[in-house]
Amino acid sequence: MSTTETSRNTNDAVIASEPNHEGYREYELGHFRFRRDEYFAYVTWPTGDHTLSIDDFLRAMQRDVAWDFFYGTVNFDAVVGTVNHYGTVDLFAGSFNEVYRKAERDYVENFESSVIRETFKAMLDDWTIDGFDPFASPAETDKPFGVKAGSNTEAVTRRRVAAQRMVGVPGDEQIRTDETHPINRMFADVPQDEPVVQAEPGYEDKVVAFNLFAYLSRSNVTWNPSVVSVCKESLYCPTTEEYILPIIHGNDRVEWFVQLSDEIKWVVEDRETGVLRSKVTMRAGDVAAMPGDIRHQGYSPKRSMLLVWENASGELPELIRTGRAPVYPVDF
Ligand code: PHB
Ligand code: FE
Repeated sequence: MSTTETSRNTNDAVIASEPNHEGYREYELGHFRFRRDEYFAYVTWPTGDHTLSIDDFLRAMQRDVAWDFFYGTVNFDAVVGTVNHYGTVDLFAGSFNEVYRKAERDYVENFESSVIRETFKAMLDDWTIDGFDPFASPAETDKPFGVKAGSNTEAVTRRRVAAQRMVGVPGDEQIRTDETHPINRMFADVPQDEPVVQAEPGYEDKVVAFNLFAYLSRSNVTWNPSVVSVCKESLYCPTTEEYILPIIHGNDRVEWFVQLSDEIKWVVEDRETGVLRSKVTMRAGDVAAMPGDIRHQGYSPKRSMLLVWENASGELPELIRTGRAPVYPVDF
Protein backbone atom coordinates (compact mmCIF):
# COMPACT_ATOMS: atom_id res chain seq x y z
CA MET A 1 0.00 0.00 0.00
CA SER A 2 1.30 3.43 -0.89
CA THR A 3 1.90 5.71 2.06
CA THR A 4 1.62 8.89 0.05
CA GLU A 5 -1.90 8.57 -1.32
CA THR A 6 -3.84 11.74 -0.70
CA SER A 7 -7.33 10.56 -1.55
CA ARG A 8 -7.47 7.89 1.13
CA ASN A 9 -10.38 8.29 3.47
CA THR A 10 -10.81 6.91 6.96
CA ASN A 11 -13.01 4.03 5.83
CA ASP A 12 -9.92 2.64 4.12
CA ALA A 13 -8.14 2.64 7.47
CA VAL A 14 -10.78 0.50 9.21
CA ILE A 15 -9.61 -3.09 9.03
CA ALA A 16 -12.76 -5.15 9.72
CA SER A 17 -16.28 -4.21 8.78
CA GLU A 18 -17.48 -5.29 12.23
CA PRO A 19 -16.28 -3.85 15.56
CA ASN A 20 -14.18 -6.21 17.71
CA HIS A 21 -15.35 -8.19 20.75
CA GLU A 22 -15.27 -5.08 22.97
CA GLY A 23 -17.16 -2.99 20.40
CA TYR A 24 -14.23 -0.97 19.00
CA ARG A 25 -12.97 -0.82 15.43
CA GLU A 26 -9.39 -1.59 14.40
CA TYR A 27 -7.36 0.77 12.22
CA GLU A 28 -4.46 0.55 9.81
CA LEU A 29 -2.01 3.19 8.61
CA GLY A 30 0.49 1.82 6.12
CA HIS A 31 1.96 -1.19 7.94
CA PHE A 32 0.90 0.03 11.40
CA ARG A 33 -2.17 -1.49 13.05
CA PHE A 34 -4.11 -0.16 16.03
CA ARG A 35 -6.53 -2.09 18.28
CA ARG A 36 -8.09 -1.35 21.67
CA ASP A 37 -9.77 -3.48 24.30
CA GLU A 38 -11.11 -2.59 27.77
CA TYR A 39 -7.76 -1.40 29.17
CA PHE A 40 -5.15 -1.10 26.46
CA ALA A 41 -4.24 0.22 23.03
CA TYR A 42 -2.13 -2.20 20.96
CA VAL A 43 0.12 -0.92 18.18
CA THR A 44 1.87 -3.31 15.80
CA TRP A 45 4.34 -2.73 12.97
CA PRO A 46 6.44 -5.10 10.85
CA THR A 47 9.26 -5.41 13.40
CA GLY A 48 7.45 -5.17 16.70
CA ASP A 49 4.44 -4.44 18.83
CA HIS A 50 3.64 -2.21 21.79
CA THR A 51 0.96 -1.87 24.46
CA LEU A 52 -0.14 1.41 26.07
CA SER A 53 -2.76 2.15 28.72
CA ILE A 54 -5.85 3.33 26.83
CA ASP A 55 -5.96 6.27 29.24
CA ASP A 56 -2.48 7.50 28.22
CA PHE A 57 -3.06 6.64 24.58
CA LEU A 58 -6.28 8.67 24.24
CA ARG A 59 -4.87 11.68 26.14
CA ALA A 60 -1.84 11.72 23.82
CA MET A 61 -3.89 11.10 20.66
CA GLN A 62 -6.20 13.98 21.66
CA ARG A 63 -3.27 16.43 21.75
CA ASP A 64 -1.76 15.18 18.50
CA VAL A 65 -5.10 15.63 16.73
CA ALA A 66 -6.07 18.97 18.29
CA TRP A 67 -2.63 20.50 17.69
CA ASP A 68 -2.43 19.09 14.17
CA PHE A 69 0.82 17.24 15.04
CA PHE A 70 2.32 20.24 16.88
CA TYR A 71 5.92 21.42 16.49
CA GLY A 72 8.44 18.63 15.98
CA THR A 73 7.92 15.31 17.72
CA VAL A 74 4.92 14.10 19.72
CA ASN A 75 6.02 10.99 21.63
CA PHE A 76 3.00 9.14 23.03
CA ASP A 77 5.53 7.41 25.30
CA ALA A 78 9.14 6.20 24.91
CA VAL A 79 8.23 4.10 21.84
CA VAL A 80 5.47 5.40 19.53
CA GLY A 81 4.71 8.86 18.22
CA THR A 82 4.69 11.30 15.30
CA VAL A 83 7.09 13.79 13.74
CA ASN A 84 5.56 16.77 11.98
CA HIS A 85 7.09 17.70 8.64
CA TYR A 86 4.35 20.29 8.06
CA GLY A 87 2.55 18.69 5.11
CA THR A 88 3.56 15.13 5.83
CA VAL A 89 3.88 13.31 9.15
CA ASP A 90 6.11 10.42 10.23
CA LEU A 91 4.46 7.72 12.32
CA PHE A 92 7.24 5.92 14.18
CA ALA A 93 7.93 3.14 16.64
CA GLY A 94 11.22 3.04 18.53
CA SER A 95 12.89 5.68 16.34
CA PHE A 96 13.74 7.85 19.36
CA ASN A 97 14.64 4.94 21.61
CA GLU A 98 18.25 3.80 21.62
CA VAL A 99 17.41 0.23 22.59
CA TYR A 100 14.89 -0.22 19.77
CA ARG A 101 17.31 1.30 17.30
CA LYS A 102 20.23 -0.92 18.37
CA ALA A 103 17.99 -3.98 18.20
CA GLU A 104 16.79 -2.82 14.75
CA ARG A 105 13.18 -3.03 15.87
CA ASP A 106 12.51 0.64 15.08
CA TYR A 107 10.18 1.50 12.20
CA VAL A 108 8.86 4.67 10.54
CA GLU A 109 6.40 5.48 7.77
CA ASN A 110 5.60 8.88 6.29
CA PHE A 111 2.02 9.93 5.47
CA GLU A 112 0.30 12.90 3.94
CA SER A 113 -0.93 14.90 6.94
CA SER A 114 -4.56 14.57 5.84
CA VAL A 115 -4.37 10.75 5.82
CA ILE A 116 -2.96 10.33 9.31
CA ARG A 117 -5.11 13.22 10.63
CA GLU A 118 -8.37 11.65 9.43
CA THR A 119 -7.44 8.18 10.70
CA PHE A 120 -6.39 9.52 14.12
CA LYS A 121 -9.60 11.58 14.35
CA ALA A 122 -11.75 8.55 13.55
CA MET A 123 -9.88 6.35 16.04
CA LEU A 124 -10.07 8.97 18.80
CA ASP A 125 -13.81 9.42 18.30
CA ASP A 126 -14.50 5.68 18.12
CA TRP A 127 -12.33 4.76 21.11
CA THR A 128 -13.51 7.56 23.46
CA ILE A 129 -16.59 6.48 25.42
CA ASP A 130 -19.35 8.59 26.92
CA GLY A 131 -18.17 10.57 29.95
CA PHE A 132 -14.45 10.39 29.23
CA ASP A 133 -12.84 13.71 28.26
CA PRO A 134 -9.17 13.25 27.26
CA PHE A 135 -8.52 17.00 27.74
CA ALA A 136 -9.80 17.10 31.32
CA SER A 137 -7.68 16.46 34.39
CA PRO A 138 -8.09 12.88 35.65
CA ALA A 139 -9.98 14.23 38.68
CA GLU A 140 -12.53 15.98 36.47
CA THR A 141 -13.54 13.22 34.05
CA ASP A 142 -15.02 9.71 34.07
CA LYS A 143 -12.76 6.81 33.12
CA PRO A 144 -11.92 5.65 29.57
CA PHE A 145 -11.97 1.93 30.43
CA GLY A 146 -14.42 -0.80 29.51
CA VAL A 147 -16.39 -1.96 26.51
CA LYS A 148 -17.69 0.50 23.93
CA ALA A 149 -20.42 2.61 25.56
CA GLY A 150 -21.46 5.74 23.69
CA SER A 151 -19.08 8.47 22.59
CA ASN A 152 -17.97 12.00 23.45
CA THR A 153 -17.64 13.65 20.06
CA GLU A 154 -18.16 17.14 21.42
CA ALA A 155 -15.13 16.83 23.71
CA VAL A 156 -12.78 15.15 21.22
CA THR A 157 -13.51 17.59 18.40
CA ARG A 158 -12.68 20.64 20.53
CA ARG A 159 -10.15 22.76 18.68
CA ARG A 160 -7.58 24.76 20.51
CA VAL A 161 -8.53 28.41 20.91
CA ALA A 162 -6.43 30.67 18.69
CA ALA A 163 -6.70 34.44 18.59
CA GLN A 164 -5.88 36.11 15.28
CA ARG A 165 -4.32 39.11 17.07
CA MET A 166 -5.12 39.18 20.80
CA VAL A 167 -7.90 38.09 23.09
CA GLY A 168 -10.21 41.07 23.57
CA VAL A 169 -9.66 42.92 20.28
CA PRO A 170 -12.62 43.12 17.86
CA GLY A 171 -13.07 39.68 16.27
CA ASP A 172 -11.07 37.97 19.04
CA GLU A 173 -13.36 38.63 21.99
CA GLN A 174 -13.41 35.08 23.45
CA ILE A 175 -15.54 36.18 26.39
CA ARG A 176 -15.54 33.69 29.29
CA THR A 177 -18.50 33.89 31.68
CA ASP A 178 -19.77 31.88 34.66
CA GLU A 179 -22.25 30.25 32.29
CA THR A 180 -19.78 29.22 29.60
CA HIS A 181 -16.56 28.81 31.64
CA PRO A 182 -17.00 28.56 35.43
CA ILE A 183 -13.89 29.28 37.52
CA ASN A 184 -11.95 26.06 38.10
CA ARG A 185 -12.06 24.64 41.63
CA MET A 186 -8.29 25.12 42.01
CA PHE A 187 -8.39 28.78 40.94
CA ALA A 188 -11.21 29.94 43.22
CA ASP A 189 -8.85 32.57 44.72
CA VAL A 190 -7.90 34.20 41.41
CA PRO A 191 -9.18 37.83 41.27
CA GLN A 192 -11.62 38.37 38.43
CA ASP A 193 -11.39 42.15 38.03
CA GLU A 194 -10.68 43.38 34.51
CA PRO A 195 -8.28 46.25 33.70
CA VAL A 196 -9.83 49.68 33.10
CA VAL A 197 -8.76 51.05 29.71
CA GLN A 198 -9.06 54.78 29.08
CA ALA A 199 -8.36 55.21 25.38
CA GLU A 200 -8.07 58.51 23.53
CA PRO A 201 -11.21 59.15 21.47
CA GLY A 202 -10.94 57.19 18.20
CA TYR A 203 -8.72 54.50 19.73
CA GLU A 204 -11.40 52.64 21.71
CA ASP A 205 -11.13 49.55 19.44
CA LYS A 206 -7.33 49.62 19.32
CA VAL A 207 -6.28 49.81 22.95
CA VAL A 208 -7.37 46.60 24.61
CA ALA A 209 -6.42 44.76 27.80
CA PHE A 210 -7.70 41.70 29.62
CA ASN A 211 -6.99 39.83 32.83
CA LEU A 212 -4.99 36.78 31.69
CA PHE A 213 -5.13 35.15 35.14
CA ALA A 214 -8.93 35.45 35.21
CA TYR A 215 -9.09 34.12 31.65
CA LEU A 216 -6.96 31.08 32.52
CA SER A 217 -8.77 30.42 35.81
CA ARG A 218 -11.80 29.55 33.65
CA SER A 219 -10.06 27.10 31.33
CA ASN A 220 -11.82 23.71 31.28
CA VAL A 221 -8.93 21.81 29.68
CA THR A 222 -5.44 20.80 30.77
CA TRP A 223 -2.18 20.69 28.82
CA ASN A 224 -3.72 22.50 25.85
CA PRO A 225 -1.97 25.79 25.02
CA SER A 226 -4.29 28.34 23.41
CA VAL A 227 -2.98 31.26 21.38
CA VAL A 228 -3.91 34.49 23.18
CA SER A 229 -1.69 36.89 21.25
CA VAL A 230 0.09 36.92 17.90
CA CYS A 231 2.88 39.33 16.91
CA LYS A 232 4.36 38.26 13.57
CA GLU A 233 5.83 34.78 14.37
CA SER A 234 5.66 35.27 18.12
CA LEU A 235 2.81 33.32 19.75
CA TYR A 236 1.85 33.56 23.41
CA CYS A 237 0.27 30.22 24.28
CA PRO A 238 -0.75 30.08 27.95
CA THR A 239 -2.30 26.93 29.35
CA THR A 240 -3.50 25.39 32.59
CA GLU A 241 -1.76 22.22 33.74
CA GLU A 242 -2.72 19.46 36.15
CA TYR A 243 -1.26 15.95 36.53
CA ILE A 244 1.10 14.88 33.68
CA LEU A 245 1.62 16.31 30.17
CA PRO A 246 0.12 13.43 28.14
CA ILE A 247 2.90 13.51 25.54
CA ILE A 248 6.67 13.79 25.64
CA HIS A 249 7.33 16.72 23.33
CA GLY A 250 10.45 16.64 21.15
CA ASN A 251 11.32 20.20 20.19
CA ASP A 252 12.35 21.30 16.70
CA ARG A 253 12.95 24.86 17.97
CA VAL A 254 13.59 26.69 21.22
CA GLU A 255 10.51 27.14 23.42
CA TRP A 256 10.26 29.56 26.31
CA PHE A 257 8.29 28.70 29.45
CA VAL A 258 7.08 31.31 31.95
CA GLN A 259 5.58 29.71 35.05
CA LEU A 260 2.68 32.00 35.93
CA SER A 261 1.46 30.22 39.06
CA ASP A 262 2.18 27.22 41.29
CA GLU A 263 4.77 24.63 40.21
CA ILE A 264 5.67 22.20 37.42
CA LYS A 265 8.50 19.68 37.43
CA TRP A 266 9.96 19.03 33.98
CA VAL A 267 11.86 15.91 32.98
CA VAL A 268 14.16 16.91 30.12
CA GLU A 269 15.72 14.20 27.96
CA ASP A 270 17.85 13.99 24.84
CA ARG A 271 15.42 14.17 21.91
CA GLU A 272 17.01 11.33 19.91
CA THR A 273 17.80 8.76 22.60
CA GLY A 274 15.64 9.59 25.60
CA VAL A 275 18.69 9.78 27.88
CA LEU A 276 17.94 12.05 30.85
CA ARG A 277 19.50 15.52 30.56
CA SER A 278 18.01 17.42 33.46
CA LYS A 279 15.16 17.87 35.84
CA VAL A 280 13.81 21.40 36.11
CA THR A 281 11.48 22.58 38.85
CA MET A 282 9.69 25.77 37.84
CA ARG A 283 7.88 27.86 40.43
CA ALA A 284 5.70 30.92 39.91
CA GLY A 285 7.83 33.61 38.23
CA ASP A 286 10.49 31.24 36.89
CA VAL A 287 11.43 31.49 33.22
CA ALA A 288 13.17 28.77 31.19
CA ALA A 289 14.25 28.30 27.59
CA MET A 290 13.86 24.69 26.51
CA PRO A 291 16.58 23.89 23.91
CA GLY A 292 15.77 22.84 20.34
CA ASP A 293 17.28 19.35 20.72
CA ILE A 294 15.47 18.00 23.76
CA ARG A 295 12.21 16.33 24.65
CA HIS A 296 10.31 17.12 27.79
CA GLN A 297 7.35 16.10 29.93
CA GLY A 298 5.86 18.15 32.77
CA TYR A 299 4.34 17.12 36.11
CA SER A 300 1.94 19.55 37.78
CA PRO A 301 0.78 18.41 41.24
CA LYS A 302 -1.78 21.19 41.51
CA ARG A 303 -3.50 22.99 38.62
CA SER A 304 -1.04 25.64 37.51
CA MET A 305 -0.75 28.34 34.86
CA LEU A 306 2.07 28.18 32.31
CA LEU A 307 2.88 30.53 29.45
CA VAL A 308 4.44 28.72 26.49
CA TRP A 309 6.07 31.21 24.11
CA GLU A 310 6.52 29.81 20.61
CA ASN A 311 8.35 31.12 17.57
CA ALA A 312 6.11 29.81 14.77
CA SER A 313 8.57 30.53 11.93
CA GLY A 314 8.49 27.72 9.39
CA GLU A 315 12.19 28.22 8.70
CA LEU A 316 13.41 27.29 12.17
CA PRO A 317 13.51 23.46 11.95
CA GLU A 318 15.70 23.58 8.82
CA LEU A 319 17.94 26.33 10.23
CA ILE A 320 18.50 24.29 13.38
CA ARG A 321 18.89 21.00 11.53
CA THR A 322 21.63 22.46 9.32
CA GLY A 323 23.40 24.19 12.21
CA ARG A 324 22.66 27.71 10.98
CA ALA A 325 20.63 28.51 14.09
CA PRO A 326 21.65 27.42 17.59
CA VAL A 327 19.59 25.07 19.77
CA TYR A 328 19.99 27.57 22.62
CA PRO A 329 18.53 31.10 22.51
CA VAL A 330 21.48 32.78 24.25
CA ASP A 331 25.14 32.12 24.98
CA PHE A 332 26.16 33.22 28.46
C1 PHB B 1 5.31 21.59 25.41
O1 PHB B 1 5.57 20.52 24.89
O2 PHB B 1 6.13 22.47 25.34
C2 PHB B 1 4.00 21.79 26.05
C3 PHB B 1 2.87 21.21 25.52
C4 PHB B 1 1.65 21.39 26.15
C5 PHB B 1 1.57 22.15 27.29
C6 PHB B 1 2.72 22.74 27.81
C7 PHB B 1 3.93 22.57 27.19
O3 PHB B 1 0.40 22.32 27.88
FE1 FE C 1 7.56 21.50 24.22
